Amino acid sequence: MRSRTTPRPPTPRPARRTLLTGIPLLGVGALALGGCAPDDAGAATDVENILTISLNQTETHPSYLALTAFGEKLAEATEGRWGARVYANEALGAQQEVVQLVSDGSVDMAVISAPQVENLSMAFRPLNLPGAFVDIEHQTAVLKDDSIVGELFSSLEDERRLRVLGGFTQGSRHVYTDRGPIEGPEDLSGLKIRVQESDVFMALTRALGASPTPMAYGEVYTALQAGVLNGAENNEVSYVTQRHYEIAPHFTLTNHLVGLDYVMANVDRIEEMDEADRTAFTESFAAAQEEFVTLWARETEASIQAMEEAGVEITEPDPEAFTPAIEEVGRSFLDSPEDEDLYERVRALADEMGVER
Ligand code: GCU
Repeated sequence: MRSRTTPRPPTPRPARRTLLTGIPLLGVGALALGGCAPDDAGAATDVENILTISLNQTETHPSYLALTAFGEKLAEATEGRWGARVYANEALGAQQEVVQLVSDGSVDMAVISAPQVENLSMAFRPLNLPGAFVDIEHQTAVLKDDSIVGELFSSLEDERRLRVLGGFTQGSRHVYTDRGPIEGPEDLSGLKIRVQESDVFMALTRALGASPTPMAYGEVYTALQAGVLNGAENNEVSYVTQRHYEIAPHFTLTNHLVGLDYVMANVDRIEEMDEADRTAFTESFAAAQEEFVTLWARETEASIQAMEEAGVEITEPDPEAFTPAIEEVGRSFLDSPEDEDLYERVRALADEMGVER
């Protein structure tokens, strides 16, 4: 076990988002296109049709910035016929409900975490297993490979009217707790750790040694504060933007999974566009997805810096303490030939790319 920082006395509670103040954020400014600057609520102004986009993150999160830029590009490319407005902070609801709202057309688009999509269709499960993605570069290549994800991403169209447009990485996910350091499963024993509502995450958290508590993202801060939870698991960007470090200042690099957010849209809404506008829509989204990769890298760095400045104890346990159990969970959920086939095709791309397992 290596502790990268020494625990310090608790710091005074900063106001929301102060940790990211002063950190250069690429995105809205850099991507803004002439004549359609966003208003305060993440919308391109002066457009005829506004796509509503639901997000459970803050306005400083890379997903918000990339999707706001998407709306601006779309408005520019369609000469104001189509634009988008991003509703942050679960304003339209938590992901589990919102995915239904996109399906029935009440909301046009949403960012939905992989476990919630798996709850709609098991065919997505292999992409939500520990070990599927080696790193962000590998995950990005998978998302761009139509021979792997093409059919899967359109598989919800007929029954659910949902199209997967692509994805944004969640980077590596780690565990954080109200006590520490956490060096191995025995240190997590009896601790209540919030997980996304998913069988895979329940099993994974048990394998790490903790007691999983499924809960919506937006409820975690209050539950930590009330002592209902001892911790949660997520990436550095969420940990900082959601201010969970204030209550759970021990961050353990378990690296249990490279997570994925899908960006989903209601098919009928997209089909309202004429062909040229649909092309503009696809191209604007592809550009935003590219931009997201850069934003993500910068914000992860900035978040680590913010964590260190706030006195978070960052522990890097011996990989042998958690890795075998994590890998075992990945294997245990591959229970059909179709799942194995998809998982193997994803892993084969990693081998082709020469990224290390
Ligand atoms: C990440 C991810 C979200 C997800 C959240 C969670 O922040 O980007 O889409 O909802 O984790 O743990 O629920």
